[in-house]
Amino acid sequence: MNESSKRDTASKARNIVWHQASVNRQAICEKRGHRSVILWFTGLSGSGKSTLANAVNSALFERGLSTYVLDGDNIRYGLCKDLGFSDSDREENIRRIGEVSKLFLDAGVIVLTAFVSPFRADRNRARALVIEEDFIEIYCAADLITCEQRDTKGLYAKARAGQIKEFTGISSPYEAPENPDLRIDTGKEELQKCVEDVIKELIAREVIPISN
Ligand code: ADX
Repeated sequence: MNESSKRDTASKARNIVWHQASVNRQAICEKRGHRSVILWFTGLSGSGKSTLANAVNSALFERGLSTYVLDGDNIRYGLCKDLGFSDSDREENIRRIGEVSKLFLDAGVIVLTAFVSPFRADRNRARALVIEEDFIEIYCAADLITCEQRDTKGLYAKARAGQIKEFTGISSPYEAPENPDLRIDTGKEELQKCVEDVIKELIAREVIPISN
């Protein structure tokens, strides 16, 4: 289990007043003809989260929709460069991404997040920042054997050799979603079929129109 963090994330600022935006989310979404939503991809390293999120992003872009991908490896070059892979650093990583995703929602954007996000509690905290229909958890369900066989970044070999500590699936746990909004067999299915399944879900939930 994810031990609760010692990091103090309580608000330190005083005397701050929320300023209501003059262009609000509803107005943006009406103008653009689609809802904004968080597509939260979770799964082991190498399970295909980034590949699927980017492929879905391309499909949505082709339809002229407003989207943005937040990718685990990329975000760790900047916004989260001060964080490693301890339980508490991962918790803070996911907390920040939850907050950033919420900003994108407000901006009327479909945000696709591709983070291992191994701890249920952290994912649930991100979900709790928004209303239920704004958060779609997508489990990229490739199993450890498949991810390790692929080993696209060579990280599993390094983790097995003890060169990477606290590696998810090897020396750090992955808590699979018990009840994801969508489960995609990224270990078995062709990428195109996976993309179609996500797009179908977005249409069924009336996030995007049938065709655009
Ligand atoms: S998370 O656990 O905090 O959600 P995140 O998605 O940002 O992780 O980063 C995971 C990526 O960092 C992996 O895809 C992999 O490329 C790289 N990585 C490096 N070290 C580790 C590690 N110890 N555990 C998992 N991923 C790691």
